[in-house]
Amino acid sequence: MPNSLIDFRDWTKTDLEQVLELSFSIEKEKNSEALKNKSAVLLFFESSTRTRMSFELACHRESMNCALMTMKSGSSLDKGESLEDTVMNIAAMDPDLFIIRVDSALNLEQISQKIQQPILNAGWGGYAHPTQALLDIRTLMKKGMKISDIKMLIVGDVKHSRVAHSHFQLSEKLGYQVAVLCPDEFKPSMAVKRFVDLNEGLDWSNAAMMLRFQFERHSEKHADQDFKKYQLSLKKLESWKNRGWLMHPGPVNYGVELDHDVESYSKNVILEQVNSGLWIRRACLRKVLGKK
Ligand code: CP
Repeated sequence: MPNSLIDFRDWTKTDLEQVLELSFSIEKEKNSEALKNKSAVLLFFESSTRTRMSFELACHRESMNCALMTMKSGSSLDKGESLEDTVMNIAAMDPDLFIIRVDSALNLEQISQKIQQPILNAGWGGYAHPTQALLDIRTLMKKGMKISDIKMLIVGDVKHSRVAHSHFQLSEKLGYQVAVLCPDEFKPSMAVKRFVDLNEGLDWSNAAMMLRFQFERHSEKHADQDFKKYQLSLKKLESWKNRGWLMHPGPVNYGVELDHDVESYSKNVILEQVNSGLWIRRACLRKVLGKK
C-alpha cells in the first residue's frame, strides 16, 4: 500500500478503487472513531476554501486531532524560516500525518523522503491535486456513471491546472477518457486529445470540467478574449447534444469561464463535487493511516 498520496504514480488501480468504495461506504457514518487519537498537521501555504475545510471536517469526523498552519498565521516563516525547515521541525513533534497545500516553493516528493509521516497532497503548484480528481470521479459515479464510460472534456487553462494533470494520471489508472479544450497558450506539455472548437469538444464528451484561469501562475498577461472564448452559458449547455454533467473544481470566476445563469442547468454538479470531497478525504485519511 502506498504511504503518501502526492500523485497517483505509486497507487494501483486496486488502491484507487478501494478509496472510491470506502468513500461510499463511510457515507453512512456521520462521525467515526476509526482514527481516534491520530493527529494530522494541515499546512496550507496557498489559499483554499474547499480543500482546507473538507480536510479539517474529515479529520474531525474521523475523531482525529488536527493542527493548522497557514502562511498568515504568524509563524516563524515570517522570520525567514524555509518551508522545508518548517515541515522538518513539525515532523519532529511526531504527528501521524501531514496534509499540505503549497506552490512550487516546496517539493513534496523530496520532503516525503526526509520525514517518517505520510503526506496527503492538498494541491501542489500546477503539478497535482489528487484528492480533487478522485472526488470528481466519485461525483460522476454517484450519478450512476460507469468509470469506463466517462468522457471528460477539461476546458480552459489546462497548462497551469493541477486538477487537469491529476486527471491525466488518474484516467490512465482507472480507464476513463480525457480530452482538453484550450487555446494554444494554455495547452499542456504532454500529448493529450485536444479540441479547439467548443461544439466539437462538447459533442465528444459527457462531462465538461471547466477550469478557472490561474492568473497567479501566468508569467505574461493575456487578453480577456482568451479567457472568455470557451465560456459556457445556460443556452450553450441546453443545446449540448449529450446534455452532459457540468463540473468545476472551484473557485468559479462567474462571468469568465461560466456565465452566471449556469446555476439552473439541471446537470450542474459543482456543489455535489464539493460534497464528494468530504467523503474522499475521509477515505484517503483512513487509507494512508491503514484503517478500513
Ligand atoms: N478545488 C479546490 O482546490 O478549491 P480550493 O482552492 O478552495 O481548496
